[in-house]
Amino acid sequence: MDTLALLGGPPIRKTLLPYARQTIEADDVAAVGAALTGDWITQGPAIQQFEEALAASVGAAHAVVFANGTAALHAACWAAGLAPGDEAITTPLTFAATANAVVYQGAHPVFADVEAATLNLDADVVKRVATARTRALLPVDFAGLPCDYDALLPLAREHGWVVIADAAHSLGGAYRDRAVGTLADMTTLSLHPAKLITSGEGGAVLTDSDRYAERLRAMRHHGIRHPDAGRPWRYEIEELGYNYRLTDFQAALGLSQLGKLGRFWSARNRLARRYRERLAGSPFLELPALPGDVRHGWHLFVALLRRDRLSADQDTILRALRAENIGVTLHYPLVYRHPFYRDRLGLGPGLCPVAEEIERRLVTLPLFPSMTAADQDDVVAALAKVLGHFAR
Ligand SMILES: Cc1ncc(COP(=O)(O)O)c(C=O)c1O
Repeated sequence: MDTLALLGGPPIRKTLLPYARQTIEADDVAAVGAALTGDWITQGPAIQQFEEALAASVGAAHAVVFANGTAALHAACWAAGLAPGDEAITTPLTFAATANAVVYQGAHPVFADVEAATLNLDADVVKRVATARTRALLPVDFAGLPCDYDALLPLAREHGWVVIADAAHSLGGAYRDRAVGTLADMTTLSLHPAKLITSGEGGAVLTDSDRYAERLRAMRHHGIRHPDAGRPWRYEIEELGYNYRLTDFQAALGLSQLGKLGRFWSARNRLARRYRERLAGSPFLELPALPGDVRHGWHLFVALLRRDRLSADQDTILRALRAENIGVTLHYPLVYRHPFYRDRLGLGPGLCPVAEEIERRLVTLPLFPSMTAADQDDVVAALAKVLGHFAR
């Protein structure tokens, strides 16, 4: 077998294959150009068009767009009225933004462990960590796999918690024939370039609630409300809001991209299925469960290292794969391990043992719509080369 690139041998690829890449086409560029030369380059007609199309695409009553997915999460926590003294339960296996949004409101994030099979929140643990102060539940559809909402929603209903689903990874997915975006009280999206569709930076909240939609719109624009429609220049701020607006040209890009979500999803799904076929027999890897009654969003393709069969740790393997020019990465370092959370909340190892073991085994492989079968063959070849080298 060839010498690892890490040890000075030739890499599998000459140039880096990134883990994610946006797909921007000529009509996307034209849509942005048209918005830029229109009368409004922020808060113009494309915002409403994008919001209406986004809501219709999942069957939600409202979509409210934001400057980014983090702002959308913050706005959802704001609209839900999360406040100091409140607790919100979420997963540690997420981007920190999910928990940060709770902290922005002065509330307290509580981390519940995940299921080993799906890597999503474990409803039994959620039950155990809930207290009388729990006000909200923030499930995250990790990698794009919708959570087990039929286990989580009854808990929330029973206790009166607001459910804010972080669907940054799962737009286009579905759980038991219910579209992502309709499963929670509010569902947040990220439109970052690595995500399923992009507006550059961008985010959105989907909801069926008129009240939440009104609050979300006020929040993204400083909390401004117009009590007198006849005098629009007289506005009032009752609650502190933010400037979390998306620009019109970003909305034009988002709208153009939304029309391609089905095509992007098909490409991701084809590649993901092919990964699963190719990697299923690997003695060095395990793949997360893929329940039959969900439609995976396929933002990420993650695999789990069989550490009992490998003589190197995760960092060494990630480093060796990067040296082969395969842009592998880790989603995610657990949120409560960040010094900010560790020190502020006094959380330490052992809090979520399943997630902690998974964190040491995860590898994110490249996956994006324009990736070719030959690119994917390089990933599979690099895995065989590197994992074979470190076989125990
Ligand atoms: C699960 C999750 N939540 C929230 C975010 C935040 O989105 P954004 O980067 O658009 O602020 C991301 C994106 O990185 C994410 O992956």
